Amino acid sequence: MSNKTSVTLLLDHGDMRLVANDTFDTSDENPGVSERNQVIQLDPDHPGFRDAEYRARRNSIARIALEYKPGTRIPDAPYTSREHELWQTIREAVRPEHRRHACADYLACMEKLDLPNDRIPQLSEVSAKVESLSGFRLEPVAGLVSPRVFLESLADGVFLCTQYIRHHSTPLYTPEPDVVHELLGHAVTLASKRLADLNRQVGRVVKLTRSQEAFERLSRLYWFTIEFGVVRENEEIKAYGTGLLSSAGELQKMHSADLRPFDLEGASRQEYDPTKFQPVLYCAPSFDQMYQQLTDYLVNLN
Ligand SMILES: [Fe+2]
Repeated sequence: MSNKTSVTLLLDHGDMRLVANDTFDTSDENPGVSERNQVIQLDPDHPGFRDAEYRARRNSIARIALEYKPGTRIPDAPYTSREHELWQTIREAVRPEHRRHACADYLACMEKLDLPNDRIPQLSEVSAKVESLSGFRLEPVAGLVSPRVFLESLADGVFLCTQYIRHHSTPLYTPEPDVVHELLGHAVTLASKRLADLNRQVGRVVKLTRSQEAFERLSRLYWFTIEFGVVRENEEIKAYGTGLLSSAGELQKMHSADLRPFDLEGASRQEYDPTKFQPVLYCAPSFDQMYQQLTDYLVNLN
């Protein structure tokens, strides 16, 4: 057994989403049908690398994103019954961890969104619910897009969202963002008015950055707050970060991290490794203070 199959870590938090247009030609001149199997260029160690059926489905889902026109309804992804079962398996693994470790705001949003347990919800239905609650909407992307494109879209209330699910052989591991991370992490938190607002604020400030250094500091700030933030609630440490909330393994490991005070300047300079459980987390004294301090910090960067 490869060591990856036993890892419960989601290695998917880089949000470095490569635009696949370069490798996917939909023009009549070059139908490139045989090349379409290469739209998703899975690494040889990817759990789905040797599964031709999985790769074909990944490509058909990628095609939805590549042909998607913003503002129109997102076509449904063709998930198999095995993939719906995979979603259910992951939900069942993460549910008790949410009860123990998720912040109150997340649990309230989870209830409002009422995501189905027995099937992967389609992006179109989740996007409609999130939009009705906070104004944010989801738009599909084929795979990885650049961090700047990803973060800037937040300013417009758009979350660029992958639609495929990880390979069934590794239910608690994915080497890239997948629909589980996007929905259980980002979509649920984007249903929160305050977390949606923070996402927009980060996007707006990113749009104003000119230097690479300033951009990288904002990327790290996003990482240590929106992706991996924790707060104190009733003397306990609770997660509001999407990378934590979409992974049973990350939630279980959260208390072993080096919990640092909510020092946003420090967080913006702290390096991280997206391929490991996060050893450093920044903890705000409360959700309210997290919201206020992050808002103040971002406003002052303008
Ligand atoms: Fe993420």
